[in-house]
Amino acid sequence: MAIDKTLYDRLGGKPTYVTVHKIFYDKAYAHPWLSRYFTDKPQELLENQQTDFMIQLMGGPKCYSGKSPKSAHQHILITDELFELRAQMLSESITEAGISDELRDEWLAADATFQRALVKTSEDECVRAYPTQPVLNFQR
Ligand code: HEM
Repeated sequence: MAIDKTLYDRLGGKPTYVTVHKIFYDKAYAHPWLSRYFTDKPQELLENQQTDFMIQLMGGPKCYSGKSPKSAHQHILITDELFELRAQMLSESITEAGISDELRDEWLAADATFQRALVKTSEDECVRAYPTQPVLNFQR
């Protein structure tokens, strides 16, 4: 029965994530504020990590081997405003990939479960993995 299928299956599997994340990171890397967080990261690497992570999160094969979202972002000041800007950009990217509003909302709900773990209110909450690691905090 269709209802038993995972969100990963209902989205059409890996090609859908590859398409959405290409659209999404093209926008993120072109955005005057969000792009500043990605200056030393190759876009393709982020696209691949995000694809593997989301596939696993939504019931697909276990293929993600990176850090947990909380530890990957511990040195980044992500405010609610920045998180919501990213969520809006993701929403537009999913729609542009031709996905239905129902499936888009399920994707965004899965993504939003990380808001509390990622959002910080001040730079004091940022943690460096090693002493010279830069804290990423850019003003709009
Ligand atoms: C405004 C919000 C966000 C910003 C500015 C942001 C920024 C970044 C940056 C700069 C990296 C590279 C970190 C590094 O390698 O040092 C990264 C990695 C990553 N991000 Fe985000 N991120 C945001 C939200 C999210 C969300 C909501 C998710 C999914 C739940 C996510 C998933 C990931 C994953 C899976 C990686 C790879 C982690 C690893 O393997 O090290 N990010 N992000």
